[in-house]
Amino acid sequence: MTHEIAVIPGDGIGQEVTPAAIEVLESFPIDFEFVEAEAGDAVLAETGEALPQETYDLAASADATLFGAVGETAADVILPLRTAVDSFVNIRPAKAYPGVDAVRPETDLVFLRENTEGVYSGLEDRLTQDVSTLTRVVTESASKRLAEFACDYVAGDEHDGFSIVHKANVMRETDGLFRDTVRDVAEEQGVETNEVLMDAFATRVCLDPEQFDVVVCPNLAGDVLSDLAAGLVGGLGLLPSANIGPERAVFEPVHGTAPDIAGEGIANPAAMILSTAMLLEYLGYEAESAAVDDAVEATLEEGPRTADLGGDASTDDVTEAIIDRL
Ligand code: NAI
Ligand code: MG
Repeated sequence: MTHEIAVIPGDGIGQEVTPAAIEVLESFPIDFEFVEAEAGDAVLAETGEALPQETYDLAASADATLFGAVGETAADVILPLRTAVDSFVNIRPAKAYPGVDAVRPETDLVFLRENTEGVYSGLEDRLTQDVSTLTRVVTESASKRLAEFACDYVAGDEHDGFSIVHKANVMRETDGLFRDTVRDVAEEQGVETNEVLMDAFATRVCLDPEQFDVVVCPNLAGDVLSDLAAGLVGGLGLLPSANIGPERAVFEPVHGTAPDIAGEGIANPAAMILSTAMLLEYLGYEAESAAVDDAVEATLEEGPRTADLGGDASTDDVTEAIIDRL
């Protein structure tokens, strides 16, 4: 079976870490067909469009998309790409690795963030010179499909249920609906949950991240709290993510184009390669996915390392070391 993978390197170090990811995927005897497409600042300057229609259509039809990073056009590219695959959940693991300086080395979390609504509904208005408003949208259907995904995600021995993070004590209607829906689905499926108010979560995760494992949250809370967790594990440079839809998905590192180091061949490919591990798992190649995770982890611990982790290796050196361990 051939898997069509849309490849969108984008700008800056996206152009450097995306080939590394392809090399990793090509090291497996799996039938991938890679189709490259453009998006971002460079193609905007050339054509007037940050996300050309053919790139959107490709992401909407490919089995999965690997996306590097884009610069100032990030919002114009990423949000439509998520829409292209109807992504209702953003999976963001935040895990500290041996050999990498972390504020909280014991951190090992996975955020399952609602990816379509909340305060990112886009329903903003400037009513008067003085007043602007935003409509926060929460639907039972979106909360339900997130909850069902979360229940599947924690099935098996590895996880004991999940935490529901919300602020239903203040946003009674919207987060009330979110919390009740997620809780009901979990109860029906016999999945254990606990609830944490999102502000309290911010404090507790800093003081003692080990009390959390899988965290299910509304859109903005997931965005902010997963970046906070990124700080606990040593920065954004190592974090992968997946935008999952009902039939396709987009995989991308959490980091941006790193203009300060772009073009030098020294970007750390780890986040992008960990994103390919998520892609492999999504396509059902669990052993291969675990092998990539292990190879990245061993390389982070034993080296070689790129400059962001105190080493002097190039993107290619690190990629080669990871592939050698596969
Ligand atoms: P950034 O993630 O690009 O860089 C932040 C810092 O982390 C920089 O010092 C950078 O050198 C370092 N860094 C990030 N990834 C690294 C890697 N793989 N290896 C080594 N060092 C790495 O975030 P910043 O500077 O806020 O944004 C730069 C540009 O990227 C902006 O134009 C922004 O709009 C865009 N951006 C795009 C995103 C995306 O496409 N998903 C996400 C975040 C930012
Ligand atoms: Mg963010």
